[in-house]
Order: sequence, then C-alpha cells, then structure tokens
Amino acid sequence: MKAANLGIRLVRSAVEIKQTVTAHESVIVTKPSVKTLIVFFSWSGNTRGIAHEIQKQTGADLFEIMLVHPYSTSYNTVLMQAQEDQHRQARPEIQDPPASIAEYDTILLGYPNWWASIPMPIATFLESYDFAGKTIVPFCSHGGGRFGQSLTAIAKLAPNAVLGEGLSVHYSGGGTLAEDVSKWLARNNVNAIGII
Ligand SMILES: Cc1cc2nc3c(=O)[nH]c(=O)nc-3n(C[C@H](O)[C@H](O)[C@H](O)COP(=O)(O)O)c2cc1C
Repeated sequence: MKAANLGIRLVRSAVEIKQTVTAHESVIVTKPSVKTLIVFFSWSGNTRGIAHEIQKQTGADLFEIMLVHPYSTSYNTVLMQAQEDQHRQARPEIQDPPASIAEYDTILLGYPNWWASIPMPIATFLESYDFAGKTIVPFCSHGGGRFGQSLTAIAKLAPNAVLGEGLSVHYSGGGTLAEDVSKWLARNNVNAIGII
C-alpha cells in the first residue's frame, strides 16, 4: 500500500539577489533650435548700422570682420586698394576670426558693395569655414548698384551653402530700415526675439 504522505521533494536554497535594479532615466529628445550668426564687414559704418539693427531684432550673435592690416581711412585710397585687392583676388587676413562656426545654422552675411562685388575680406571669411548644411543670407549696403555681382561671388565661394533671399540697402537704409529688416527676416524664416 502506498503511503500518501511519503515522497521526495527536491529543494535548493534560493540565491540571494545582489543586483540592484534601477529605472532608466527618461531621455528627452528636443529639436535643436536654429542658431543664427550675423557676420559683417563695414568700411564707413553703413553695413555696421544694418547689422546692429538685425542684432536688435534677432538677438543673434554678432561678429564684425576686422582686418590685421586695415584699409586706409581715406576714400580715394580705399577705392584703389579695393580695386587692386579684387584684381589680384587677395584674401586679407581677418583679426581673431571665430575658431568654428559649426554651432550656427544660419549666417546673415553683411558687406558693402565694392566695385560691384564683395569686399575681399568676405572671400577670406567664406573660404575659412565649411558651409555644408548651412544657409547664408546676404545683406548688402550700396550706393546705387544694389548687389552687383556679389551674390554670384558668394555662391562660388560657398558652393555647399544654401543662399537665402538677400537684402540690399541704399547706404544706411534711412527711416524704413527697421521695417525692411523685419520683413526680410520674416521672408527668410529667421526668428525675431520672442518668436521661437
Ligand atoms: C571701395 C569702394 C567701392 C565701392 N563700389 C561701389 C559700387 O561698385 N557700387 C555701389 O553701388 N556702391 C559702391 N560703393 C559705395 C558703398 O557700397 C556704400 O557707400 C556703402 O554704403 C558703404 O558701406 P559701409 O559704410 O558699410 O562701408 C563703394 C564704396 C567704396 C569705399
């Protein structure tokens, strides 16, 4: 006769669990915000004034191109120097250029129309960085010749960049400058302060 209360039971001591279990921190993925840099060269101050108006409206970082060997302060001399620089495709050395512009997506690039094109310091700047994946939006102060050939010159020097819609400003831009800048920024989808 079988005893109902007899049998074999296999037992094994439980292994102490030493491992601690922690919850993973949640990862928040945010869309990187578009960062804008204003870069400009100005000889007699008009482009500087426009750049500062843009800075006021955007809060963007600002870099003024200054030269190791500045141009003459005499109008007649700078006319000759600028023409000579253009003929020999000079690349005037920029003082303390930014080490990198990698963090910026959009570059607002300002310059005066010089002999119907860009001043050569703009060429130095464009050749110093990689503009792949970036947008360059030019603004140009002029005495009647608007952009001249400057947009073509920029496209050749930064072939990987997307060119935005440029703004040409007659000398300092006069009383409509703030409004012209604001409309131009909106057309190029550049954020004004407070609208992000
Ligand atoms: C060397 C030089 C060349 C210039 N060439 C032209 C030109 O070809 N066409 C034009 O419309 N204005 C020309 N200008 C006038 C400037 O574009 C204009 O005065 C501009 O507002 C200057 O900007 P800035 O004050 O930022 O230097 C020239 C000025 C200089 C000094």
